[in-house]
Amino acid sequence: MQSTGQPVSRYQDKNWWRQAVVYQIYPRSFVDSNADGIGDLKGITSRIDYLKSLNIDAVWLSPFYPSPLVDGGYDVSDYRDVDPKLGTLADFDEMLAALHKAGIRIFVDIVPNHCSYLHQWFQDAITSLPNSLERNRFIFRNGRGENGELPPTDWVSHFAPSAWTHESTFGGKHNQWFLHYFAPEQPDWNWDNPEIEEDFLKTLKFWADRGVDGFRIDVAHGLKKDLSEPFRMRNTLEHEVDRPADGNGILADRNEVFDVYRKWRKLFNQYDPPKVAVAEANVLPERVPLYASEETLGQCFDFRFIFIPFTARSYKESVAEAIELAKVNGSSCTWCLSNHDQIRHATKLGLDKSVDRKLWMLSDGTSAPLDKESGTRRALAATLFILALPGSTYLYQGEELGLHEVTDIPESMIQDPQYLKNLKVDKGRDGSRVPLPWNAQADYFGFSTGASHLPQPAWFKDYAVNVQSGKAESALSTYQRALQKRKELICEELITWHETGNAEVLHFSRPNGWNCLINFEGSDYLIPQGEILLSSAPITDGRLPAGTTVWIKR
Ligand code: BGC
Repeated sequence: MQSTGQPVSRYQDKNWWRQAVVYQIYPRSFVDSNADGIGDLKGITSRIDYLKSLNIDAVWLSPFYPSPLVDGGYDVSDYRDVDPKLGTLADFDEMLAALHKAGIRIFVDIVPNHCSYLHQWFQDAITSLPNSLERNRFIFRNGRGENGELPPTDWVSHFAPSAWTHESTFGGKHNQWFLHYFAPEQPDWNWDNPEIEEDFLKTLKFWADRGVDGFRIDVAHGLKKDLSEPFRMRNTLEHEVDRPADGNGILADRNEVFDVYRKWRKLFNQYDPPKVAVAEANVLPERVPLYASEETLGQCFDFRFIFIPFTARSYKESVAEAIELAKVNGSSCTWCLSNHDQIRHATKLGLDKSVDRKLWMLSDGTSAPLDKESGTRRALAATLFILALPGSTYLYQGEELGLHEVTDIPESMIQDPQYLKNLKVDKGRDGSRVPLPWNAQADYFGFSTGASHLPQPAWFKDYAVNVQSGKAESALSTYQRALQKRKELICEELITWHETGNAEVLHFSRPNGWNCLINFEGSDYLIPQGEILLSSAPITDGRLPAGTTVWIKR
């Protein structure tokens, strides 16, 4: 599976994904071309030059399908179309052609665990009888209690206290409840029904035939549920509900889900090069290889760098573990620091380690000071560190600007169900989804000519693309240089650790002499002999300061 060193055209190379840099676009917040304050596909097409300047290999687009946007588009009402707010299928084709022309591949997001309550099949189900074909596409059950007034089980959802909602909420008249792992507006599909399997194969083929190169599979550990009766109750089995060690959870990570992915793999392999997929699976580490097998999805996100502290020890241990896991089935590692579900990593790294980030967000970012400068500095150091590792890297729009989380979105403008449906115990994820600042001087910072769907704070001007472009020390230039260099340096997927004699400094190298050193919080560290290729912050007198990463060739 590893690179043979033979020259192959980028577009024929079936292993292109193994060490690709994939840039996540959250379409509603990238660029708006029609002044409605919502980013769109034409907006993306208008920024191909920018994407090209980043030296990325692929983009991954979060959902752009028709959706009432209860969960930012992860509530899909039609899997084989484009939301009119974001464009048309013709706009999609135009965007895809322009991306390919620029040498950038494209992943689309597939959301197979649930749809939107506005999906035609759910609308049909809610108006149909219990046990009908229409209801059997979802998970409808009678309630407990004398009159079925209690949900069938005590299972909880991610975005609501109960994983069951009474059908009357959506106009149903048969006193049943339906299951949803997320918001009530996101009913779960019944994956025991072959019709659902067939329909998703049709969706995958629809996009694959249009030319997409890969798929990001949302909640890949969902889909199959243990619906055997009597139902297992959560209060007796909590640890097994969705992160089981044995593939026998109630709501997620069940072994049967791999039967589905084996069928998907067969479809992917009918293309040349085969379509690729990456699983978003929130599972125990030892179960990750099951999703990343070449018989199933091929790759699985590893989110550990999002959660670990910025310390030498945790970074080293995490790399070692991730590499071991990737080896289990010949997949490649997936590194990432940010995405649309997480607090931007520049902000995380600018907070004292003792700060409870959830409470801090609930205080609108006021309960503890944020050191923005150190945060951005450490964020760049962390990025250069992961970019030098073997495997692929997933970047999230705006991180290349060193952008921080927006912590004070007024309650009336919050969109995220993680806040709205969840008894407001969590501020949610809107703060990382605020539209990008392109131009410090323009209205809405050049994102749109109409009011942006989430408010952009005044300080966004300091991070705008036009302010950073061409400035050697800016975050944007650092990303551009690093990604360019990485393209030249990419080599076999191996690393060797080197002793540094300093607990705050890590040093590893790749087989071609590409060396990476990071100093976490130590005093300046003498960089070993070699050609300095680039660094995340200025280096003086050959010494690596705290919160800095350097790449050298030796
Ligand atoms: C997506 C989230 C979404 C959830 C439900 C996640 O994994 O990344 O943004 O809310 O799935 O679809």
